[in-house]
Amino acid sequence: MKSLKIRRPDDWHLHLRDGAMLEGVVGDTSRDFARAIIMPNLVPPVVTTADAIAYRDRILKATPSGDSFTPLMTLYLTEQTDPDDVEKGKASGLVTAVKLYPAGATTNSHGGVRDIEKAMPVLERMAKIGLPLCVHGEVTTPEIDIFDREAVFIETVLDPLRGRLPELKVTMEHVTTADGVDYISSASGNLAGTITTHHLIINRNAILVGGIKPHYYCLPVAKRENHRLALRKAATSGDARFFLGTDSAPHVDPLKECACGCAGIYTSINTMSCLAHVFEQESALDKLEAFASLNGPAWYGLPANEEMISLVKGDEPVSFPARIETGDGTVTVFDPMFPLHWQVQR
Ligand code: NCD
Ligand code: ZN
Repeated sequence: MKSLKIRRPDDWHLHLRDGAMLEGVVGDTSRDFARAIIMPNLVPPVVTTADAIAYRDRILKATPSGDSFTPLMTLYLTEQTDPDDVEKGKASGLVTAVKLYPAGATTNSHGGVRDIEKAMPVLERMAKIGLPLCVHGEVTTPEIDIFDREAVFIETVLDPLRGRLPELKVTMEHVTTADGVDYISSASGNLAGTITTHHLIINRNAILVGGIKPHYYCLPVAKRENHRLALRKAATSGDARFFLGTDSAPHVDPLKECACGCAGIYTSINTMSCLAHVFEQESALDKLEAFASLNGPAWYGLPANEEMISLVKGDEPVSFPARIETGDGTVTVFDPMFPLHWQVQR
C-alpha cells in the first residue's frame, strides 16, 4: 500500500447546475474539495451580484451538512454588465471572478459576449480593482475548425485583450492544446490556466473511435495526442501557472445520448483518484499537491487549505458508480478506461 498526504484540494472550474441536479451532484464535490469556482451558465445565467449571492445560498443549502465547502462565485459577463455591480460583488467578498463566454461557444452561452468592445468598461474596472477574468478560450466563427478554436482565440482575442489591458488577471480555463500551454508558459505575468481531469486522460480518439462516445464529448473538445501530452507535462511540472479546474459538467443521459448531445463530462466523484493515477504515471506524485491544492489559491490570492487529505493506493481497484442518480435523472460518470487504485481516505 502506498499513500500520499496533501492539503485538501480545490476545484477552480466547476458546474453545479441548480435545483434537483445541484442537490444530486454537490456532495460529490464537497466530499473531496474545500472550495470551487462555480460557473455561472445557468438558465438564466448568473449575471448580477444579487444573482450570485442567491445562487451561493442555494448551493450552501444543498451541500451535505457534514461537509465544509465554500463556493466561490462568478458572474457571467454580458455586453450589459454594470461595472459598479461587479465592483460591489468584489467588495462583498462573495464574487471571485467574472466569466467570459464568447456567445455560442458552449452550453448555455447564447447570452455571452459577441463584441468584446462592449465589455471593455467592465474589463477596465476589473483590471483596476484586481478582479480576475475567467475565459472560455474558443472562437465561435463558423469558418474556424472546432479543433482550432482555442489556438485562434489566443491569437485573435486573448493576446490583443492582454495587450490592451496588461493589468487584467486572466485565467484561461480548461486549456486543451499545446498552443494554450505554450502561450501561458511564455506569458510575462497575469495569466494562468486551468486543466481538467479528463483532458489529461483522453484524446479525441476516445470520442470517435469504435463508435461515437457521447460521454467523452465536452467543450473544448479533446484534441490530438500531442496536445494531451503537453497538458500532462504542464500539469505535472509544478509550474504555479497551471492548476486543477475539473470542468465537471453534469448532463442527464438522455441529453447526451441523442442526435445532438450536450457537451460536458462528469468527473467530480473520481477526479482525485484519476489525478493520482496520472501523476503517478508521470512519476510526479510530488507535484500533485501544487496542481490540486496550492497553485490555484496562490493565483486567486487565497490561503491554501489547512486541512490535509490522504490518498491511498490499494492492490484492488477502487469502484466508483458508472452512473449517479439525481432528481433530474441519471448522470454517467467519467470512465478513465483504466482501473483506478488510488482513493481519498475517508
Ligand atoms: C459545460 C457545460 O455543460 O456547462 N460543458 C462542457 O463541455 N465543459 C460548459 C463549458 O464549460 O464549456
Ligand atoms: Zn466549464
